[in-house]
This record gives sequence, C-alpha cells and structure tokens, in this order.
Amino acid sequence: MAKSERRYSDSFYNFISLAGAILAGVVLCIIILLILLDAFSPSKTPYFGILTYIILPVFLVIGLIIIPIGALRERRRQLRGLAAQRLPKVDLNNPQHMRSVIFFVTTTCILALFTSLGTYRAFEFTESVTFCGQLCHSVMKPEFVAYQNSPHARVACVDCHVGHGAEWYVRSKLSGAYQVYSVLFNKYERPIPTPIENLRPARETCEQCHWPQKFYGKKQITRTHFMEDEENTRWDYNLLLRIGGGSGIDLTRESNIHWHINNKVEFITTDARHQDIPWVRSVDENGTVRIFKSEGADDLNLAEHPMQTMDCIDCHNRPAHIYRYPQFTINKAMVAGKISTEIPEIKLKAMEILAACEEDSLTEQGMKRIEEELNSFYKSEYPDVYESNKGQIDAAVEGLQTIFQNNYFPEMKANWRAYPNNIGHISAPGCYRCHDGKHRTENDEVISNDCNICHLIVEQGNGEFSQADLKGLTFKHPEDIDEEWKEEGCYECHAE
Ligand code: HEC
Ligand code: HEC
Ligand code: HEC
Ligand code: HEC
Ligand code: HEC
Ligand code: HEC
Repeated sequence: MAKSERRYSDSFYNFISLAGAILAGVVLCIIILLILLDAFSPSKTPYFGILTYIILPVFLVIGLIIIPIGALRERRRQLRGLAAQRLPKVDLNNPQHMRSVIFFVTTTCILALFTSLGTYRAFEFTESVTFCGQLCHSVMKPEFVAYQNSPHARVACVDCHVGHGAEWYVRSKLSGAYQVYSVLFNKYERPIPTPIENLRPARETCEQCHWPQKFYGKKQITRTHFMEDEENTRWDYNLLLRIGGGSGIDLTRESNIHWHINNKVEFITTDARHQDIPWVRSVDENGTVRIFKSEGADDLNLAEHPMQTMDCIDCHNRPAHIYRYPQFTINKAMVAGKISTEIPEIKLKAMEILAACEEDSLTEQGMKRIEEELNSFYKSEYPDVYESNKGQIDAAVEGLQTIFQNNYFPEMKANWRAYPNNIGHISAPGCYRCHDGKHRTENDEVISNDCNICHLIVEQGNGEFSQADLKGLTFKHPEDIDEEWKEEGCYECHAE
C-alpha cells in the first residue's frame, strides 16, 4: 500500500492495533445485539444488565486501549528507522481469503461470547445464597441459619441486599471487596453492626414482592404462653393486627399500621442501633406537619444527627435474620409438643438455662450446659419425674438445644439482645421507640400508645379465666402486676 492511500497515521497500521480494533468492533456488535434482545424480550433478569453494561464494556475498553498501544509501539519502531509494518492484503474474491476471514470472524465472536458468559457465570455465583451465606461459614453463620428459619428462607440474599440494576450491583461488590479483606485479616466486628449503612432503600427491594396497595384488613395472630410456675400454666392471646394503610385509602376509618409508608415520617436517632428516637416529624395526608419530642430532645444538637425517613426496615428490621426471643421460642416448642408441658417447672428452667447460655462463648458450651443442667436439676429436685419420664426430659434437652442452635451464636455474639426486633413492644422497645405516649408536640398532642390503635385483643386467658369479644377486650396481664403494664412499657420488664 502506498503511503498516500493510508487514511490514518502510519503508526496505526500494525497487528496489535488491528487486533484491538477487531476486539472492540466485535464486542460492540454483541453489546448492540444484546441491547436489542433486551428491549424486545418480555422477561427481564437483573444479570442481563450486568453482562451488557459491565462485563462486555470492559472488553470494549480493553480493545480500545490496545489500539493506541500498538500505534505507539509501531511509531517507536519507525523512529528507530525500521520499515513500516505491512498488513496482509485481503482479497475477498479469493476463496481461500474468504474462508479465512469467515473462520476468523466467527471464532472471535464465539470466543468473545463464551468468555463473557464464563465471566457472567462467575458473577452469577457471587450472587448465590451459597456464596453469600456459606462461603465464609463462621462469619455468616448467624445470618444464614436465622435466615433458613425465617419466612424468607427461599428468597435469595441478593433480592434484599442488592436488588435489581447494575448500580447497586457494583456498590455491593465494592463493599463486598472490603468485607473479604476484613474476613481475611480478622478485622470484622462481632456482632456485625446494624443497621447496615448504605443499605439499598427497602422500598426498592421489598416492594419487588410486596405490594403496599394490597395491605389492608387485619391479620390474626394467636400466641400461647406458659407461665414460670410448677404447672407451666397456660395463657393465650388472640389478636387482630391492623395491618392496613398501604393504599392510602381508608375504607374502615380505623387506624392503620402501614399508615407510615403513605405518610412521611422522619426521625432523629441518637444511638447506632436506632433504639433511641427522641425527635419525630410527621406529615399527614392533609399536609399537616407535626414535630413530636420526648424528654431531653430540646438539648439535642439536631445538626449532629442525620435525619432518617421511615421505611419498611425501621419496623421490619428482622425479616430474614430473626434471633428469636426466648419466651417466644420456648412457648412455641411447648405448644408443638417438642418440650413437654407435663414436666414440672420446665418453662422456668428452660428460661434460666437459656439466659445462662447467653454468657457462653462457644456453641458447644451452651449445648453441654443445657444437657447437664436440665438433667441434674430434675435428678435432684424431681427424682420421681426423672425416673418415670426420662424420655420426656431427653426430648426437652433436644428441643432446647435446637432453639439454642438456631437463635444463639456465641462465636459471633449474635442473639436476640444483640439484634433487637423492632416489630412489637415486648422483647424490645420496637413501636414504643415513638409510641410510648411521651413524644409530644408543643400543643401536647402525643404519638399514641392506646392499646387499640395497632391491634384488638379478641381473646385472652386460659381454661379458668377466658374472655372473647370481637370488638376488643381490655388487656389482662397473665400475672397480677396491678396497673404497672399501663405505666411502664412491657419491654421494661420483659427485655431484662
Ligand atoms: C427478606 C430480606 C433479606 C434476605 C433474604 C436476606 N437479608 Fe440479610 N438483612 C436484611 C435486613 C432487613 C437486614 C438488617 C438491616 C438493618 O437493620 O439495617 C439484614 C442484615 C444482614 C446482615 C447484618 C447483620 C444483621 O443480622 O443485622 C448480614 C451479614 C446479612 N443480612 C447477610 C445476609 C445473607 C448472607 C443472606 C442470605 C443467606 C441474607 N442476608 C438474606 C434482609 C434480608
Ligand atoms: C423475592 C421476594 C421477596 C422479597 C424481596 C421480600 N419478601 Fe417478604 N415475603 C416473601 C414471601 C414469599 C413471603 C411469604 C412467606 C410465607 O408465607 O411463608 C414473605 C413474607 C413477609 C412477611 C410476613 C412474615 C410473617 O411472619 O408472616 C413480612 C413482614 C415481609 N415478608 C417483609 C419483607 C420485607 C420488609 C422485605 C424487604 C427487606 C421483604 N419482605 C422482601 C417474599 C419476599
Ligand atoms: C410502622 C412500622 C411498619 C412499617 C414502616 C412497615 N410495616 Fe409492614 N408490618 C408492620 C407490622 C406491625 C405488621 C404485622 C406484624 C406481623 O406480621 O408480625 C406488618 C406486616 C407486614 C406484612 C405481612 C402482612 C400479612 O398479611 O401477613 C408485610 C408483607 C409487610 N408488613 C411488608 C412491609 C413493607 C414491604 C413495608 C415497606 C414498604 C412495610 N411493611 C412497612 C409494621 C410496619
Ligand atoms: C419513628 C417513629 C415511629 C415508630 C418507630 C412507629 N411509629 Fe407509628 N406513628 C408515628 C407517628 C409520628 C404517627 C402519627 C401520629 C399522629 O399524627 O397522631 C404514627 C401513627 C401510627 C398509627 C396510627 C395511624 C393512623 O392510621 O392514624 C398506627 C396504627 C401506628 N403508628 C402503628 C405503629 C406500629 C405498629 C409501630 C411498630 C411496628 C410503629 N407505629 C412504630 C411514628 C412512629
Ligand atoms: C404502636 C402500636 C402498638 C401499641 C400502641 C400497642 N401494641 Fe401491642 N403489639 C403491637 C404489635 C405490632 C404486636 C405484634 C408483635 C409480633 O408480631 O410479635 C403487639 C403484640 C401484643 C401482644 C401479644 C404479645 C404476645 O406475645 O402474646 C399483646 C398482649 C399486646 N401487644 C398488648 C398491648 C397492650 C396491653 C398495649 C397497650 C398498653 C399495646 N399492646 C399497645 C403493637 C402495639
Ligand atoms: C412490672 C413488670 C412487668 C410489666 C410492665 C409487664 N410485665 Fe408481663 N410479666 C411480668 C412478670 C413478672 C411475668 C411472669 C413471668 C412468668 O411467670 O412467666 C410476666 C408474664 C407475661 C407474659 C407471659 C410470659 C411468657 O413467658 O410467656 C406475657 C405474655 C406478658 N407478661 C405480657 C405483657 C405485656 C403485653 C405487657 C405490656 C402491656 C407486660 N407484660 C408488662 C412482668 C411485667
């Protein structure tokens, strides 16, 4: 080729630049093809975007970088006085040339596609529950085990923690890289701190599956309790939770729990786990703004604390990793017959032993403690029961050990106390962080703590004392504590 026929500077005509240009060209074609496919395909997968917008562009950029590198090299060669490189002449009329070109172009395309698919599979693996939950087994064990025992056991970790779209994918992988470092060098905190800073706004993840417009009516829950007395006296509550409010249309003219997501609620919290909320601002459907403050809020330097806007996770902070409250799990195991209600004082002993296990630093210690302490207690205090009902006691040991293994993780210092659940108000302040009746506006309006705004108790009691009324009952505490339940939050005694 004569010099004058060349359109670009001489240095671009060399093999390296040519290879770069071909790579870039082929990748660009694949990208365009995939974008077209994506636009016309009905089902959208989040990974598609990752291939098209992250992995392939990396190859495109590599190709583009190779072109000037080749040119620079060629220029240096020519400056050293070497002859300019000659590119092969391709004549498409020559069948042999034609075959070579077809072969070359197809193999490059196939290779490019397979390389990116391979990378894609690798990336896909980093999105799997196995990768997130089991790879660094000891660190993620609490989250993984609790997750498997949750209503979301079949939802992938990434559906809540990453969600759709390339941007959050990249963000999660960046913070993931730091996490790998902290695991390798043993720099992570125990327990792992929450709330997770920079967690994707819950409404973008939860609402992929849950549709707030469909939150209406009431949800019925029954809770059976056993008291800490010799007979393990039973006591039931049957409640209707007012879970409506998601649509913003109030058909019932009653109060609704999901009111908070249709109306703006902002708050300021002074502790890392968001348990103290001294300042709250709400804007209701009519645009009325109200600021509620609890005692001491006036001394706060508001500028020091970032304003938070309430979303799903401010209440549902434990949708997947539920470290259950001991009363709750023991009651449940007793109802299910896994721990026999016929064993005297079993509720009391089980509670005491689990409380002691909170101090253990290894899972094995707790497992051994449960076996030894239950056996020795019944052997010495109830020898007849121990003789005649050894089978029941063995089963109780097993039941309590299962509870312990699924909810207590001494190695990571994870349990119900380390990760308080914000739904409710018995095992932790939960709703009472704001609804304690002590958050007031300047006009003395309060965030209500009326027992009936969140639920109706429609049944309560046991065989001897039983009440039922669909319009709602006045709460009766299972143990006589006078009016104390009106004056203090339930959690003040129950989360001790
Ligand atoms: C249903 C949604 C959901 C799923 C599924 C889910 N998580 Fe979470 N995860 C959360 C929420 C919500 C938090 C707490 C966020 C907060 O309080 O800031 C959390 C917190 C965590 C934490 C911080 C420690 C803690 O317990 O608060 C880790 C670690 C974690 N998740 C790992 C995982 C792993 C691993 C999986 C899969 C095995 C997974 N998550 C599945 C919603 C989910
Ligand atoms: C990939 C879909 C999916 C995502 C994402 C998801 N959930 Fe769920 N969620 C479900 C399914 C399915 C159930 C029903 C499970 C059942 O009934 O056993 C459920 C159940 C629930 C329940 C009822 C639990 C109970 O005890 O009955 C709550 C509350 C909930 N989800 C909250 C959340 C929150 C908060 C998030 C966001 C952090 C979230 N979910 C994200 C699928 C999802
Ligand atoms: C003010 C606190 C609060 C906020 C904010 C909140 N929820 Fe709830 N939600 C509750 C309570 C309380 C319940 C009933 C408790 C239970 O199911 O144990 C509930 C129940 C649910 C249920 C179960 C409904 C059923 O029929 O079983 C789902 C699903 C749910 N919420 C999803 C969400 C999602 C998604 C968001 C965010 C868009 C959200 N919630 C925001 C308090 C809240
Ligand atoms: C960050 C503070 C905050 C938290 C936490 C909170 N709320 Fe509220 N809630 C408010 C405010 C503010 C109002 C509006 C009070 C008013 O305007 O009178 C409200 C109102 C309500 C209402 C009445 C809504 C209506 O339809 O009129 C219900 C029911 C309710 N909350 C339930 C709950 C439940 C259940 C929880 C715990 C799972 C909870 N709230 C946690 C701040 C909070
Ligand atoms: C701001 C909302 C709110 C207020 C106010 C409130 N509760 Fe609740 N309560 C809840 C929620 C949410 C749950 C369900 C928690 C769960 O799913 O575990 C609950 C659960 C309960 C339970 C069942 C607990 C169990 O394990 O058996 C009882 C009993 C109860 N509340 C009594 C009361 C009484 C008495 C009052 C008034 C002094 C009151 N509540 C005020 C939100 C509220
Ligand atoms: C002054 C302290 C105190 C307050 C406040 C209090 N309780 Fe209790 N509660 C107790 C004691 C003590 C017991 C008896 C423990 C036992 O025998 O199981 C108990 C037992 C219970 C039980 C049965 C426990 C179990 O192990 O299953 C329930 C349910 C209960 N209380 C609900 C509530 C609710 C709901 C509130 C708030 C409205 C509340 N309590 C407020 C002290 C308190």
